Amino acid sequence: MTAPLIGTDIERAIELLHANELVAIPTETVYGLAGNAFSDVAVAKIFAAKNRPAFDPLIVHTSHYERITELVLDIPSPAQKLAAAFMPGPITLLLPKRERIPDIVTAGSTIVAVRVPDHPLTLQLLRALDFPLAAPSANPFGYISPTRAGHVARQLGDRISYILDGGPCAVGLESTIVGFPEGQPTVFRKGGIAVEDIEAQIGPVQVREHSSSNPQAPGMLKSHYAPGVPVLLGDIPQLLEQHAGKRIGLLTFQNQYKEVPEEHQVVLSSAGDLTEAARHLFSGLRYLDQLPLDLIIAEPVPERGLGRAINDRLRRAAATG
Ligand code: TXA
Ligand code: MG
Repeated sequence: MTAPLIGTDIERAIELLHANELVAIPTETVYGLAGNAFSDVAVAKIFAAKNRPAFDPLIVHTSHYERITELVLDIPSPAQKLAAAFMPGPITLLLPKRERIPDIVTAGSTIVAVRVPDHPLTLQLLRALDFPLAAPSANPFGYISPTRAGHVARQLGDRISYILDGGPCAVGLESTIVGFPEGQPTVFRKGGIAVEDIEAQIGPVQVREHSSSNPQAPGMLKSHYAPGVPVLLGDIPQLLEQHAGKRIGLLTFQNQYKEVPEEHQVVLSSAGDLTEAARHLFSGLRYLDQLPLDLIIAEPVPERGLGRAINDRLRRAAATG
């Protein structure tokens, strides 16, 4: 009998990770595809399984802030404040790496991305390991991030040894990435912690917008999170009129529309709550992507709090190049 692909067996996960195999892990943001961050062999398997270009570095996950201090050379004071406020939680810090972090993890950069995920199962796993876990989101490169164990199984099930099932992700958006180029706190990726909440801790920050050409911010590629069905972002009534006669799926913030069958519509939060909307975004896109549609029409949500990260993902899902 072969062992099940999905389960909650931490011992099995530990064994596989020690053998340099890959295990998908739940976090509060999205599921990660994890391997021993100190092992070139394990990390190379991550890049291969995801079809990820070698220039796009990986986040290193640990169980405590104190362990981060063993991985990096220096933690500037705003980074310390952010760690105190938000770790464990959906924040990733870019810090100068120690030599023990292999170059393959950082794609040759002297900076490493570190984070403490807030999920009980994965924290238990990390505490039991004597190495940190390198883990990108557990999706094929360029596709929507997974927020359930089943999402991972469907796309990467034949390439990984085990999926730790921690249920649906509570936040549903990837971590917010903050770096400190020339000492200036800078948000490189909007995510599960709102820019406003970061500024409440450390004052004004710069926010880098994504680009398709800036190799300094590899994961900021313009077209990302893209479903197989084309996505249009804009005013729903207007787009429905322009595309009358097509098989359309709708991703809306609060309302349903009578022009489209109910089972082809995803409402992110009928109450208009951005936290709830974030939680439903990726599973909603995945749901629509498996329907027989010509087009997905989505609308932007209010550009504040987590809404800024949601709109960023929607824009990238809609980008074609
Ligand atoms: O919430 C998350 O952050 C999830 C969970 C699994 O932890 N992880 C995640 O990983 O979203 P990934 O690989 O899908 O996205 C990580 C992003 C990429 O855009 C990558 O370019 C950037 O972080 N990154 C990683 N290391 C970096 C570094 N040393 N310098 C600059 N950017 C880095
Ligand atoms: Mg990703």
